[in-house]
Amino acid sequence: MGSPMYSIPGSAAAVPEPPTGAAAAHGPQSTEARTVSEVLAQSQAGAVMDELDRDLVGLTPIKARIRDIAALLVIDKLRMNLGLSAQAPSLHMSFTGNPGTGKTTVALRMAEILFRLGYVRKGHLVAVTRDDLVGQYIGHTAPKTKEVLKRAMGGVLFIDEAYYLYRPENERDYGQEAIEILLQVMETQRDDLVVILAGYKDRMDTFFRSNPGMSSRIAHHLDFPDYAPAELLRIADKLLEQHSYRFAPGARETFEEYLTARIRQPHFANARSVRNALDRARLRQASRLFADQDRRFTAEDLTTIAASDIRASRVFQTAAAPSQS
Ligand SMILES: Nc1ncnc2c1ncn2[C@@H]1O[C@H](COP(=O)(O)OP(=O)(O)O)[C@@H](O)[C@H]1O
Ligand SMILES: [Mg+2]
Repeated sequence: MGSPMYSIPGSAAAVPEPPTGAAAAHGPQSTEARTVSEVLAQSQAGAVMDELDRDLVGLTPIKARIRDIAALLVIDKLRMNLGLSAQAPSLHMSFTGNPGTGKTTVALRMAEILFRLGYVRKGHLVAVTRDDLVGQYIGHTAPKTKEVLKRAMGGVLFIDEAYYLYRPENERDYGQEAIEILLQVMETQRDDLVVILAGYKDRMDTFFRSNPGMSSRIAHHLDFPDYAPAELLRIADKLLEQHSYRFAPGARETFEEYLTARIRQPHFANARSVRNALDRARLRQASRLFADQDRRFTAEDLTTIAASDIRASRVFQTAAAPSQS
């Protein structure tokens, strides 16, 4: 490849102070690390990985792949410390899977791990779709794409439904221009920018078949499975706990019934549907309590989702009809 057509300056001036402890990744001690545990301790990447294991339900294959990638980076750092390799590994990835399977959530954690291990300077995530990259008129796409790349430099650029960049039916689609700029930057600035392409698996496969240049730059393909009903239920527990709510006796079973019905209905979106359902249950709980204008509520009243708060969902009334509620 010749000299880069597009060079996106990393805006060093805008770099925020790294969180305490994370600075070690770029700090002087890190060059002295000679063991895996030294690198992990100095970077605190181990803590982020443990958190990922703990906070996220299921996702066993994904967690294993992330550990593999982290291992590669840690060993790479040890090699660098001995002056063995200077070339940054390519870390661009594709995250495929159905909506609500945790792609965005995991991408955020990945950005943090890459930052801790000193692979990127800032560790932030910029999430975009085609409309953020591609302009409507001639000459608009390059500046838009470059602006996004500039913002993402030092972190992760997460392109949701990336395949929409490629529209073969449209002969001179501006998406192609965005793809070409991305390809350049993914090659020339891969030591400070990781691109993650996300979306449905089948569409991404088609996209890669038509864009071998893009395909060849993606080092890691992570495929996010749908959650099993038991996992969705555990995700519900976690989400409630995070917001200081809990199921009343029997309400968890009602929610399980709810899930069984909801999974069969259109637009089911895994963990996101769980979250939406719980948001609506909280609304119903609030209305229920609101009606009791003179009662002094206990903490238990205020934190408890009753079976009736779930049972009132339209999913139960029209178990066979299309509904999202
Ligand atoms: N494994 C999981 N454990 C707990 N919560 C999860 C898990 N996966 C997803 N969620 C939650 O579900 C919601 C949707 O996840 P998200 O990452 O946006 O999915 P995607 O990007 O694949 O559509 C988020 O609120 C997230 O916190
Ligand atoms: Mg998402």
